[in-house]
Amino acid sequence: MTEQHVEIREATVVDDALVEAMARLVPQLSNSNLAPDEAALSAIVESDTSILLLAEEGGAVLGMMTLVVFRIPTGVRAWIEDVVVDEAARGRGVGEALNRVAIQRAHDAGARTVDLTSRPSREAASRLYSRLGFEQRDTNVYRLES
Ligand SMILES: CC(C)(COP(=O)(O)OP(=O)(O)OC[C@H]1O[C@@H](n2cnc3c(N)ncnc32)[C@H](O)[C@@H]1OP(=O)(O)O)[C@@H](O)C(=O)NCCC(=O)NCCS
Repeated sequence: MTEQHVEIREATVVDDALVEAMARLVPQLSNSNLAPDEAALSAIVESDTSILLLAEEGGAVLGMMTLVVFRIPTGVRAWIEDVVVDEAARGRGVGEALNRVAIQRAHDAGARTVDLTSRPSREAASRLYSRLGFEQRDTNVYRLES
């Protein structure tokens, strides 16, 4: 059997495999959001600020995350969003590999900070982010539904 290994790459084209991967992964992240369609994915892939990273093994998408890098008066900043690994592939370091590539990309882009939010109930995510060196900040997170 050929040994496969997980590769992290940026999604640069939208094809059926990517649409299918989103349809499989997004429900494992959120019950309240629909998976992006081809048009939405094209907008992400073409965006200068959003970097959609995929974890692949033998051509199969095991996980994904989005790194957003943007410039504001206090510097270049980065956010990590929508991190999810397929249930069948969890606990193998795929989430860690995705985050490490994102952190390096953010650093290379000059980002001073990388931020993310995660609900306390997401215990696996909390362990992963702590292991990677993320520290909890004492701040309020606000949201306006529009
Ligand atoms: C959080 C998530 C991305 C981590 O992905 P992953 O590929 O399992 O990550 P890693 O293997 O690098 O590490 C995850 C940690 O969770 C543990 N873990 C969680 N679920 C596991 C499972 N089903 N099997 C084995 N280990 C699991 C791992 O052991 C590891 O903990 P440790 O550092 O104490 O050993 C994944 O659990 C996931 O997609 N969860 C649902 C969506 C989610 O919560 N996303 C984060 C939003 S902020």
